[in-house]
Amino acid sequence: MKTVFPVAGVGTRFLPATKEVPKEILPVLDKPLIQYAVEEAAASGLDDFVFITAPGKEALERYFAPNAELDEFLGRHGKEGLLDGIREFYGKKFTYIRQEQALGFGHAVSLAEAAVGDEAFAISLPDDLILSEQPAMAQMLAVYEKYRSPLIAFMKVPRADIPRYGIAAGPLLEERVFAIEKLVEKPAAADAPSNFAVIGRYIMTPDIFPLLKRGSKGAGSEIQLTDAVVELMKKRRVLGYFFEGRRFDAGTTLGYIETLVHVALRREDTRDFTRRLLRGLAENGTL
Ligand code: G1P
Repeated sequence: MKTVFPVAGVGTRFLPATKEVPKEILPVLDKPLIQYAVEEAAASGLDDFVFITAPGKEALERYFAPNAELDEFLGRHGKEGLLDGIREFYGKKFTYIRQEQALGFGHAVSLAEAAVGDEAFAISLPDDLILSEQPAMAQMLAVYEKYRSPLIAFMKVPRADIPRYGIAAGPLLEERVFAIEKLVEKPAAADAPSNFAVIGRYIMTPDIFPLLKRGSKGAGSEIQLTDAVVELMKKRRVLGYFFEGRRFDAGTTLGYIETLVHVALRREDTRDFTRRLLRGLAENGTL
């Protein structure tokens, strides 16, 4: 199964940093955001990656490829090990497709059609960084194996946050799995059918492509995946899955701070320092 990473966004929330550096290359400690999402897919058994990029985001197209000069430099200094985490991806398949115009997330996904072909595929949004025991995408694949229906990841959000998400409602089929009956992109809290929010992990089937190609514009005047899924629901069952784990919104500055702190608290080499730092700030009364 291929994994599609829609990474064409302009990253306006992180300007000016994203003027020259793609948002997905911004580091969470010493690793770019995109690598967390690619590692999660790889740890879920997926190894064929399709990036929907945009002009100006060439750094993303280079990141998972060897860099001869850097390799040579590190080799000379006996520091090859510093790239271990990235070297394991050199042999994997990456396909890069350009979205020339910013027509929306749904449009970006539609551009993956030729690369994906006639098979189910995964979609992963790197802004949603998920820390969990079992990789979130592996959890999704297990549910897909069982039901063979298109599947979307969900978490419950506070009412005030509803307008930032796709929101769905429907009856539970089993613990964590529900049949989506209503789905709407970024509703006002008062119009929302629930507080079940779409998080950026999907397993889609190729019958989504003709619906995306119709190109009707939705929320924010963009072609939305959510709207195509609503059309798909008229033809087949689409499921929601409450994943196990914690999701961080690395796509906003405040969410980014939270992401950094939690990743630092979970990593062995940064945990003690971060704990001491936070404890010290709290004890000084500056927190
Ligand atoms: C996208 C989806 C939205 C989903 C969100 C999750 O929105 O359109 O349904 O809830 O990702 O992060 P975006 O954040 O790209 O505006």
